[in-house]
Amino acid sequence: MKEIKIESNFIVYNSINELPGNIKSLMHEAIDARKVAYAPYSKFEVGTALLLDNGEIVTGNNQENASYPSGLCAERTAIYYAGSKYPEAKILKIAISASSKNQETSTPIPPCGACRQAISEYEVKQDSPIEIYFMGKVGEVIKSDSLVNLLPFVFKKAVL
Ligand code: THU
Repeated sequence: MKEIKIESNFIVYNSINELPGNIKSLMHEAIDARKVAYAPYSKFEVGTALLLDNGEIVTGNNQENASYPSGLCAERTAIYYAGSKYPEAKILKIAISASSKNQETSTPIPPCGACRQAISEYEVKQDSPIEIYFMGKVGEVIKSDSLVNLLPFVFKKAVL
């Protein structure tokens, strides 16, 4: 037997104001999307903005449902729309902002496990990494160079 060690590096920005200009704008798009999320049940609103290699920005937010499991996270709403509308485009960057109506979200909120798996599919499909920036409502923003940092033992189509 052996032990293996997997290390990941992340950049932590103190606030949205520290982000490079183009990422700051992308995060503002995510925040705008977050503000119109449909989350009447959890009161937890998430917004996502994607920058594609064709220059388009695609946004999404969480869409909840009275039948709870029928709802969908912001990240998947956005990437599935991007995948359907621009099937040939690569996703370069993803910005995510999350905010709760029950408490102040001042720590970075990462994408959930299911969304990590879904984002991974697009890294495999496009054969290039996707930069991911995530934050709460205020405070620090974490940057990951690739989804792989967030889900090291990802399940991929190569094994099917
Ligand atoms: N949610 C997202 O939109 N993205 C995530 O990565 C985590 C959770 C949504 C789903 C649900 O509408 C609400 O946040 C509470 O879980």
